[in-house]
Amino acid sequence: MVVGSGGREHALVEALAASRLEPEMYAAPGNPGMAGIAKTVDIPASDLAALRDFARENEIDLTVVGPEDPLIGGIVECFSEEDLAVFGPSRAAARIEGSKVFAKELMHHAGVPTAEFEVFDREESALAYLYSTERYPLVVKADGAAAGKGVTVARTREEAEEAVRACFGGKFGPAGRRIVIEECLEGREASVFVITDGEEVLPFLPAQDYKAAYDGNRGPNTGGMGAYSPIFWMEPATYAAILEEIIRPTLHQLSLIGSPYTGVLYAGVMVTPEGPKALEFNCRFGDPETQVLLPRMQSDLLELMIACGEHDLSGREVEWSSEKTVCVVLASEGYPEDYDTGVEITGLENLPAGVYVYHAGTEERDGRLYTAGGRVLNVVGTGPSILEARARAYAAVEQIHFEGMHYRTDIALEAIELEDL
Ligand code: AMP
Ligand code: GLY
Repeated sequence: MVVGSGGREHALVEALAASRLEPEMYAAPGNPGMAGIAKTVDIPASDLAALRDFARENEIDLTVVGPEDPLIGGIVECFSEEDLAVFGPSRAAARIEGSKVFAKELMHHAGVPTAEFEVFDREESALAYLYSTERYPLVVKADGAAAGKGVTVARTREEAEEAVRACFGGKFGPAGRRIVIEECLEGREASVFVITDGEEVLPFLPAQDYKAAYDGNRGPNTGGMGAYSPIFWMEPATYAAILEEIIRPTLHQLSLIGSPYTGVLYAGVMVTPEGPKALEFNCRFGDPETQVLLPRMQSDLLELMIACGEHDLSGREVEWSSEKTVCVVLASEGYPEDYDTGVEITGLENLPAGVYVYHAGTEERDGRLYTAGGRVLNVVGTGPSILEARARAYAAVEQIHFEGMHYRTDIALEAIELEDL
């Protein structure tokens, strides 16, 4: 059973369904895109007890959790009361995403390179700090999970002040009662994923995400407007340094404090002139990074997840095809701020070969498809080069229509130039 309803979960369902083990698949709550490959179950990802009861009654052998909230909320502990297996970290280990303060202090103790930081639990002291420093730009982060919206890169003291007041003023609820103010890192950002049982580390490929809403990396931060793989600009030595200096010490530290980590660990990394530094950790796969990675994966994802639960990752490797992938996210007008739903989607028939469409926020009624979220569809083009993968993705995008449809036109553009070098 896959828990979640976005494009990441659609890609997970597809990859797991292709396993040699021929699993019978469920998705809770799932979406119309998955309905052909998994039985969708009308239980929200937030209802942990109902998910557990369903898993018990239907003898689900393995539950794979897409989004962070159920993990941060303790789905692993909830399921283990009934001896039900979940691929993902415990509540204690998921604090690495659930609390920025926890993550920063853990990194500090583990000697992991990251931005210098200060923690504040009072507005006055945070504001006093803003007046005592000249180090702008700097970054203000709400401690708790705020769906990617709790982070402000503030260029000026005024912007920082506004962000601090927003946090303590309750804009992010309890997530903003404590904040981190940290140094702004310059460099190139990448998303790095590993599967781990707390000791063995099985590296995935890194991927490039596009967080800003508009072309040229302008506009507000979103969950992700596009992605591509592979990323040509990351040297193998840099990737090795990320594993050795960021991922492994973090996992070791989590074990030391009695919260060993299992599942997927996602490190958001800034590759700076001084080397890679950790921006944040997430306790799950990235969305939309998963949508460009899983179509390239040749290993059996389900077997790897089972092996992870059995502490049997040693000697395994993940195999990847040489295909390149580019994902363009089609979003509702207004996303990431307010947006309407219930708008009809057309043009999904007869898409070009080499294109996958993952559903993110869609709903089916009477055989027609409607928007049901901010990020609506993920269009993934594949091909022997980024140039071709990108052309396929955008050719498919041109065929798809819903009123107010918004997407970035510059996804993977930089990669074409790098590819030629
Ligand atoms: P986070 O949720 O911590 O990854 O922050 C969201 C986004 O804000 C990251 O993906 C970065 O683009 C940006 N960001 C976070 N921390 C920093 C930092 N210290 N320096 C520069 N950019 C940052
Ligand atoms: N694409 C960023 C994330 O999944 O958090």
